[in-house]
Amino acid sequence: MLSPTILATTLLALLLPFTNAQYGAPDTPSSSTSPFPTSASSGSSSTHTIEVGNGGLTFSPDTLNVPVGDTIEFRFYPMNHSVVQSTFDSPCVPSGDSALFSGFFPVQSGMAGTSWTIKVTDTKAIWLYCSQGSHCQMGMAAVINPPSSGKTLSAYKQAAVNIGASANPASPQGGVIGPVKTQSSDASTRNEAMGKYVLVMAMVVAMFTL
Ligand SMILES: *[C@@H]1O[C@H](CO)[C@@H](O)[C@H](O)[C@H]1NC(C)=O
Repeated sequence: MLSPTILATTLLALLLPFTNAQYGAPDTPSSSTSPFPTSASSGSSSTHTIEVGNGGLTFSPDTLNVPVGDTIEFRFYPMNHSVVQSTFDSPCVPSGDSALFSGFFPVQSGMAGTSWTIKVTDTKAIWLYCSQGSHCQMGMAAVINPPSSGKTLSAYKQAAVNIGASANPASPQGGVIGPVKTQSSDASTRNEAMGKYVLVMAMVVAMFTL
């Protein structure tokens, strides 16, 4: 029969390298620089996720700093939302003929199986709103790469209240509609969970040892 101390020491010796591996140098360099937990690395660019209408007339997150070259996947929730690009000065109406537009995503419950993905091609602020009914007037708006000073999302929302009616382009443009992506961060989430499990196990073992 092994003594508990030897058993515990052996277990720790086996588990610690694995724990260190989990918390050592990240294997996803680009996503490690992003403050957003939903970012997933794919090569040198990352995909960021924004939820549209999850639990209310909201974009979550509604403010996102995204490096040029990265993509943003919009995931849709009930009931029937859209994403449209406007200028800061004219909330709730398309910024022009080439304004980004997702189209409408009617959803009965849960998350829509299809999403809309755009690529960030420059550092200019991208102001977005939902063109459904009076959602924009009720504050359903977001900004990508907000200016460092002056124009704020809350000022945008305040101005939106006074806009008579929302509008959107005739058909989707500026992005790609397709199946919701499987986040490659799922793997790192699993790794993280495994790392925590290992730590807890090590602590339990240590408790019996000391
Ligand atoms: C979703 O909203 C758009 C715009 O209001 C409307 O044209 C469309 O019929 C709606 N779709 C459903 C399934 O309700």
